[in-house]
Amino acid sequence: MPIGEATIPVLDRGFIFGDGVYEVIPVYSRRAFRLSEHLKRLQASLDGIRLPNPHSEAGWGKLVDELIARNEGEDQYLYLHITRGVAKRDHAFPQPPVTPTVFMMSSPLLHPAAELLATGVSAVTASDNRWLRCDIKAISLLPNVLLRQLAVDAGCAETILIRDEAGGGDGFMTEGAASNIFINKNNVLCAPPKNSLMLPGITYDVVLELAAAHHIPFEVRKIGKAELFSADEILLTSSTREVMPITLLDGKPVGNGKPGPMFTRLYSLYQNFKSEVMRQP
Ligand code: PDD
Repeated sequence: MPIGEATIPVLDRGFIFGDGVYEVIPVYSRRAFRLSEHLKRLQASLDGIRLPNPHSEAGWGKLVDELIARNEGEDQYLYLHITRGVAKRDHAFPQPPVTPTVFMMSSPLLHPAAELLATGVSAVTASDNRWLRCDIKAISLLPNVLLRQLAVDAGCAETILIRDEAGGGDGFMTEGAASNIFINKNNVLCAPPKNSLMLPGITYDVVLELAAAHHIPFEVRKIGKAELFSADEILLTSSTREVMPITLLDGKPVGNGKPGPMFTRLYSLYQNFKSEVMRQP
């Protein structure tokens, strides 16, 4: 149905408690990219909040195909949202369990502007004050909303999060407010290790797979704040922004202040990989 006609009851636990999980899946040439990986992460998020999956993988596949078919545009991004359903307001799970609410929408996938890819974008850093289960793609995104707004307030594209002592960490970088972050130091691509303090990004996996397949030296290890500031390059990845260079951090140039060779290489490998996958029958 048209988005303006879709409604949910006010007692939906997603609305009342933010009690639900979501996925964002890019669609290229009318085909969902890395669908099975997104559905696996959705299952992990549902397990994380103890909500039975309302559909099988094949069931989701059919819904996804139908959503793509019903919308115009070669490239779309799909949003899937599942909540614990509608029940009288009470923090504990409803008994007996109620039917989960499933909401799906498609929006046009807007590719990062060529101009931004040529100059890079700016970012700010902030203390990661989110909860300790950032591996769950939860719809309760208030901390991420507030953190991303810090970037917008400063005229920047992203906020890079540092889990310092106040947030139960020891000063290492976790991810962006809505993206994963990599650095290049001395031609080695470095990525923070997946753990419960960051979202296991699907694009993050693609980038590391491409690095391995094309013999780009890489390390998966903790990245401290000082290292972030002394990086030769900083890269951002997400399903909607693909791979982007960050060239200014807290007002200081990253490396020489221009997108570097690691970005150029990974960006082109990513574009080639996408087209190859989309050409497969
Ligand atoms: N966000 N980390 C966070 C906190 C995110 O919200 C996202 C993506 C990522 C990147 O994950 P992936 O490569 O699987 O998209 C990392 C989506 C795009 C969003 O909330 O709109």
